[in-house]
Amino acid sequence: MIYTIDNFFTEDELKLVWKELEWATSPYRLISSLDSGSQLEKTNHLSYNPRVIFKERQFSSISQICWNKIFLNEDLKTEVKKLNVLYGNIDAATDLIPTIKYYEDSQEYKPHTDFAQFTSCIYLYKQPKQFTGGNLYFPEIDTEIECTYNKFVMFGSGLQHGVRPIKMNRKDLIHGEGRYCIINWLCRNEADFSNDKKV
Ligand SMILES: [Fe+2]
Repeated sequence: MIYTIDNFFTEDELKLVWKELEWATSPYRLISSLDSGSQLEKTNHLSYNPRVIFKERQFSSISQICWNKIFLNEDLKTEVKKLNVLYGNIDAATDLIPTIKYYEDSQEYKPHTDFAQFTSCIYLYKQPKQFTGGNLYFPEIDTEIECTYNKFVMFGSGLQHGVRPIKMNRKDLIHGEGRYCIINWLCRNEADFSNDKKV
């Protein structure tokens, strides 16, 4: 039910991705879960969620790279479809919505479902890794995916998923040494997708 790829971005792509990640996650750009529309009873992470920038792909390296490597990747879609009889609807997706999530000490996301058709995550962090935790877990199928650098994970958005709490020595916020996650939601169109509100 879960598709993973290790070393998802190439070294050249990572250089572009990190430039944008550092810019996007600097103070005053990240917004709280309260403002991002996340379920407050379940999470306390920070996110960078500029619909305007990500909707116009020419303004974002991350958005362009992910569009090419996920949305336009027929081999990836073929592999995902093999995982579950319900995953055939990946061909009906018409859009890919990226968002950057950023987690530091004590931040987590309890199990929830997303409103999209498919959810994908790419984990990144500054090396050496300054935290433990942050694994993605799927309680309904008793599965946990370790948070390792540059790993891509994709699954049907109706599958319950959560993020284990991050543990760090540093307690101050937005210092850049936490867990970065580039989310890409595959969905049918933007009209049926409101922020990352869940059902
Ligand atoms: Fe989610």
